[in-house]
Amino acid sequence: MDYHDLLARLGEGSAHPGGFSATLQLLDSLSLPAGVHVLEIGCGTGRTACYLARQGYNVTAVDLHRHMLDKAVRRARKERVDVRFIQADATALPLPDHHVDVVFIESVTIFTSWRRALAEYRRVLKPGGLLVDREMVISGRKTELMSRRLKRFYGIRTLATVSAWKKRLRGCGFSKVEVKEQSRTMGKWGVDHDPLREMDMNWIEDKNIQRMSRTNDRLLLRYGKRLGYAVFAARVPTEAGTN
Ligand SMILES: C[S@@+](CC[C@H](N)C(=O)[O-])C[C@H]1O[C@@H](n2cnc3c(N)ncnc32)[C@H](O)[C@@H]1O
Repeated sequence: MDYHDLLARLGEGSAHPGGFSATLQLLDSLSLPAGVHVLEIGCGTGRTACYLARQGYNVTAVDLHRHMLDKAVRRARKERVDVRFIQADATALPLPDHHVDVVFIESVTIFTSWRRALAEYRRVLKPGGLLVDREMVISGRKTELMSRRLKRFYGIRTLATVSAWKKRLRGCGFSKVEVKEQSRTMGKWGVDHDPLREMDMNWIEDKNIQRMSRTNDRLLLRYGKRLGYAVFAARVPTEAGTN
């Protein structure tokens, strides 16, 4: 069982720094135009995707993990909202070029091969389209051991600073790169009540889950102070180069 299996079994609805309340604040500040096509990548158990659909957006949501997606599909059914769920890898999206207006991501790109993921985000966005990505960043001293431990346990593929991410986004052809929100700490998640959380019932007796939860707590205690997060916003340039 890996970290994402753990999250899937726990049914965590907002497994990202800041939790669901941060998502709501962010969406509020973005004021996305009504009815636009939003692609959420790494939607997990679908809480944000369903919320976006409830607000009247046209929502497609992708995740690699089958158990996460099954929970997301059931959530959408319970909420009676229409979300197109697709099981796919962020680095190989089964979508045409220039297909969506907004790509929305929370705590996913760090688990991918970032160059390929950013290239895919850019490919599926329409010219002028908006990328919004909340990711964990390094905010303090990074050591080899810390990197190795975090990567091994969480399956993280990249641990970078805010300025490194900005450079990566520009390097992948995005323009108007901005940091919408930044925190030198990881903030809290898992604290917002999720009325539709679907937790696998046997987790309390599951020794594997208990062991992994303890490792998670230990790692956060040890390295949490050197980890923060940031929300990046960036645009795909328009053909006229005005964006
Ligand atoms: C930390 S969770 C965040 C889930 C959700 N965005 C949220 O905030 O609750 C990371 C999610 O990314 C998904 N994921 C990881 N690597 C992925 C990839 N290469 N392509 C698509 N999804 C991926 C995992 O299955 C998991 O659902």
